[in-house]
Amino acid sequence: MHGPGEIRVTVFPNDRAAARALAKRIAGHVSAKPSLVLGLPTGRTPVRLYQELVWLVERGQLDLSRIRTFNLDEFLGIARDHPGSYRRFMEDHLFKPAGISDEQVEFLNGAAADSAAECERYEEAIAAAGGIDVQILGIGTNGHIGFNEPARELQARTHRVRLKPETRRSNAALFGSDPNAVPGEALSMGMATILQARSIVLLASGKSKAGCIARVVNGPIATRLPASFLQLHHDVEVVLDEAAASKL
Ligand code: PGA
Repeated sequence: MHGPGEIRVTVFPNDRAAARALAKRIAGHVSAKPSLVLGLPTGRTPVRLYQELVWLVERGQLDLSRIRTFNLDEFLGIARDHPGSYRRFMEDHLFKPAGISDEQVEFLNGAAADSAAECERYEEAIAAAGGIDVQILGIGTNGHIGFNEPARELQARTHRVRLKPETRRSNAALFGSDPNAVPGEALSMGMATILQARSIVLLASGKSKAGCIARVVNGPIATRLPASFLQLHHDVEVVLDEAAASKL
């Protein structure tokens, strides 16, 4: 544990080594607490991490049958089985191959008729689970975590958010490579929801994240760089490959 303002940084030679080390660390958390409550991200970055977790499960080195999961965010207006949904992404990359059942999974429902009620339900579900033990995060090149986009003000709690053009572009692959097909809005955990996790690990790789990572770790805290608020947490680790660490 470190004091606020000190983000631990661990650098690996490449993204595969970073993912493998993080998967082993998660396995350690799960063996210490089989009913671990795990917060999970989507995106390109965690794909390798999920492959490594599945690999450990397949070899009998990790038992995920008692964990609970909460994902950070979901697009608005699409159902869980839509091919572009984050729920579908998680089913394909982790839940199905790792044998994580529906009963273990909490997810924001982007198709809920009342999005405000859905956000409130999610906050209550996190509280009822006893809070998130370990929250894994990716980071957008604009510094977003979850879908907490750079803004003059940030939302504390799970909320409905309008996505930035760059965020829609970077999610285009899920929607036939057409940024205009990416929903314009989403539901996301808020900054306080994320910062209340007992322990946080941010995973980033590649040169495109280097500038942003340097500002997150060493720069001032700013709502224009939502991830910089991680400096206020007492147990944050940033796990990087060499490219993402190149501007530190
Ligand atoms: P990426 O997305 O892993 O696809 O770069 C990260 C994010 O936007 O949080």
